[in-house]
Order: sequence, then C-alpha cells, then structure tokens
Amino acid sequence: MRIPMCEPDITAAEREAVDEVLRGTTLSIGPRLELFERRIAAYVGARHAAGVSSGTAGLHLCMLAAGVGEYDLVLTTPFSFVASANAIMYVRARPVFVDIEPNALTIDPQRLADTARVVSRRHGRRLKAILPVHVFGQTADMDPILEIAERHGLAVIEDACEAIGATYKGRPAGTIGDAGAFAFYPNKQMTTGEGGMVVTNHHGWDALFRSLRNQGRDVFDGWLAHSRLGYNYRLDELSAALGAVQAQRLDELLEKRARVAAWYEERLASLEGVERPGPAAWTTRMSWFVYVVRLAPRHDRDRLIRELEARGVPARPYFPPIHLQPFYRGRFGLRPGDFPVTEAAGASCLALPFFGTMREEQVDYVCGALAEALGLEPRTEPAARRAVG
Ligand SMILES: Cc1ncc(COP(=O)(O)O)c(C=O)c1O
Repeated sequence: MRIPMCEPDITAAEREAVDEVLRGTTLSIGPRLELFERRIAAYVGARHAAGVSSGTAGLHLCMLAAGVGEYDLVLTTPFSFVASANAIMYVRARPVFVDIEPNALTIDPQRLADTARVVSRRHGRRLKAILPVHVFGQTADMDPILEIAERHGLAVIEDACEAIGATYKGRPAGTIGDAGAFAFYPNKQMTTGEGGMVVTNHHGWDALFRSLRNQGRDVFDGWLAHSRLGYNYRLDELSAALGAVQAQRLDELLEKRARVAAWYEERLASLEGVERPGPAAWTTRMSWFVYVVRLAPRHDRDRLIRELEARGVPARPYFPPIHLQPFYRGRFGLRPGDFPVTEAAGASCLALPFFGTMREEQVDYVCGALAEALGLEPRTEPAARRAVG
C-alpha cells in the first residue's frame, strides 16, 4: 500500500463553483472573493477579512499594517515554518527569537516576558510587535502574550496559517490579536490551491490590506493611481470560488480530520517511546492540521523515516528550527544550542500522513508500519486484518 502524505478534500460542489467561474468572464477581482471573505469573517467572527495570494503574503501585509519597518524588532518563535520569520525580514526588520514551551510547542510566555523586558530596555521603540505562531492546529497561550504586548505597546500579529477554526478559551484563532493570517495551501485544513486571508477588527488595517494587495491602489483611486507602494497579492476568482465552498464545509472538514486524529490516538496509545499530540490546557477547539508524534531519543528518526518510506509510508521531520536554517544562521550568527526546547522538538517530531479523507485502514497501515519499523507490536488489531479474518 502507498499512502499519500496529504490530500485535499474536494467535492463536486467545489468543482462546480470553479467551473462556473470559468463559464463567466471575471477571473479576478470579482464577487467570489467578496463571498469568500464574508464567509471567513463570519466563521471566525472577525469584522474584516481580506483574501490574499498566500499566507506568507498575508503575514507580510500584517507587518506593514503594524508599522514594522527597517531596523525594527519583532518577537517570534523559531519553531515554525520559515515564512513567519521571513515576513519580518521582508520589511527589513529583525526577528528576535524566543524559545517555545515544551508541550504545546508555541512561544513560551515567561521567556517572552523576559526577552521583551530586556529588548525593550535596550532598543526602546524599535521593538514593534509580537508574532506568535499557532502550530499544528492550536493557538499559543494568548492571554499572557496580550498582556506583554500591552505592557510594551506592541502589536500582536497571529500566524494562524495552521490553525483556522481553532479556539483559545473560546476565542477563534486569528481574531485574538490585532490581525491574523490564514493559509490555504493544499495540505491545509481547507484549500484554495494557493491562497490566504488576513482578518482584523481594525477598519484602517483592512483598508490598508486591500490597497497593499492591489498594487497600492486605494478604493477611491482610479485603475492606474497608486497611493502607496503595493504588491500584487490578489486572490483570483477561481481560488476564491474554491475557498468559498471549502469555507462553507469547514466544520465538516475539521470533524473529518478530528476523526482521523482519534484513530491515530487509539492505535498509537501502546507504542512505547511515541508521544501523541493533543490539545493544550487553553485549547477549546483543536483544528487538526498535521498529525505529529514525538519520538523518544532512543528511536533513530532518520532510520525510521527510511523504514517507513520502504513500506510506502511518507513521514517528515517537522519543523527544522528556523534559527538553524542556513539563511538565518548566516545572517544572524545563530547556532545549535541557542534555543534548546525548539531544537529538542525539531529533533524528535515526526509528521505522519494526515488528511481528512484518510480511511481507517490507511491509518491502520501507517500505525502497523510504524510499529514494525520500531520493532514494536501495535495494541489495536488493525481494521483491515479484522475485516479479512
Ligand atoms: C506556520 C505557517 N506560517 C506561514 C505559512 C505560509 O503560508 P503559505 O504557504 O500560504 O504562504 C505556513 C504554511 O505552510 C505555515 O505553516
């Protein structure tokens, strides 16, 4: 059996919506984008939502809206996909990395408070924002983060690219800080192919997002009048039509993913040295993005990945820490040992195949292959074998 790493969940409704766009003549800046934005805003309870070409583009625009610019500093986490730190670099500011807490793997509020105090004392007003990353489908611990932001007068930009639909003490990811960015790459909980969305309750920020994504035009500008330096970060109508249907199905999509996670949870319970992921104390709704287990140090992850691959099961180390990426090491002289909790997580995390349309026997197969590769016996009898015997 060959198992895919991920797969989008696309139905006839999405295909029909995209086809309808193709039967018309408006392929960009049209009614589907507005519909998609209204649906996302309503789903997460944000006043404004602006569609953009990717989650990365959304984070970039958030940096600009927060007034982050050259030589400024932004507190963020090195345990993330590289895009969160890159967005800070795009505006010629500098990420100040803060280590994570070991369970939820999100930015550690205590370390954040300490670093904010030191950086703020040394660099004063150059410290502009906090960029927490909601990893693997749940938020960072936002209350202390908001408190630290308030104390130092900082904007809070949520990287919610992996967490659409998650809630923190009942509050939806992306709507807790000043703005939040979602991403819709095909491995995400919902997809538009490529695409993203920025949500905010600040009217002025939303107006800026709309102008910046559209070459700096203001709503009242003519087509070739540009009030500011902007970008082409528009989301086309085909992607928006796909997204509008996926947004309508979001609860269903998240439930299907939660069911797959529950199958994994049950089957991996007995595998020694394989720690299963789960919700943090503050998570009131998990939005399962990936299924990432943590391996005890005695398990050789690289060997395991090879053994799984030989059995048709892809698995990925997730995340290699940002501060150890060649670009960041070279630019800032960062080294192994700088962020030990992040490095320990980066060295032990393993993402298993995960998608909402995954079948129970596929989960059985992955868990069987994992047990075999580890030289262990799974506790639950695989459904596939049950069915045959
Ligand atoms: C944490 C995080 N931030 C940002 C992004 C960037 O999103 P996109 O790939 O849509 O640019 C991703 C997407 O993979 C992500 O996982």
